[in-house]
Amino acid sequence: MDVFEAIERRHSYRGTFAPQRVPRADLERIVIAGIRAPSGYNAQSTSFVIVDDADLLAKMAGITGSAIIGGAPAAVAVVMDPDATADKEFRFGIEDYAAAAENMLLAVTALGYATVWLDGMLRREDRAAKVGALLGVPASREVRVILPIGVPAELGVQREKKPFAERAWFNAWAAPASPSRTGS
Ligand SMILES: Cc1cc2nc3c(=O)[nH]c(=O)nc-3n(C[C@H](O)[C@H](O)[C@H](O)COP(=O)(O)O)c2cc1C
Repeated sequence: MDVFEAIERRHSYRGTFAPQRVPRADLERIVIAGIRAPSGYNAQSTSFVIVDDADLLAKMAGITGSAIIGGAPAAVAVVMDPDATADKEFRFGIEDYAAAAENMLLAVTALGYATVWLDGMLRREDRAAKVGALLGVPASREVRVILPIGVPAELGVQREKKPFAERAWFNAWAAPASPSRTGS
């Protein structure tokens, strides 16, 4: 699958997973895609805890109230360093973890698995910190995303996106479409 097909096929999957395990080799490939993401000042500030232990997954589901985590054979907790690049002019911890997460979504899709970016739901009731404590994440770091990963048992599709013309323009904001200058 090329990158454009993965971008088109990627979707937030909230259905059930087939019972088969995700081989560690595939989980490593997915996380290496995250590791290969760009990062501000090349600080590589994002860390990853890969969970394929059923008891831990059940505990994470209990903390978060997420049935999809409980039903997943594996998950990746994406961990941000909030102090990343604090010694530089700009902090980029959020951008770093977001870039890593998107790379992993595409890798998950390319390998035939499904996932969903669980982030907003972690911010309630101190859930992120509780998951972090469960996984031994240092108090100086923040669990920002959980990606449950497995073979989807149901079909899923990407939510509809607004058309190009509503969100992107050549050369100026909201510029009317004009003929391509290529070759002129
Ligand atoms: C920053 C961010 C936070 C998100 N948080 C959640 C979440 O907590 N729970 C959830 O089910 N989906 C979450 N999502 C997934 C979005 O709901 C989903 O990407 C969006 O509805 C578009 O659907 P699509 O991914 O199929 O294109 C989040 C996505 C992003 C990028």
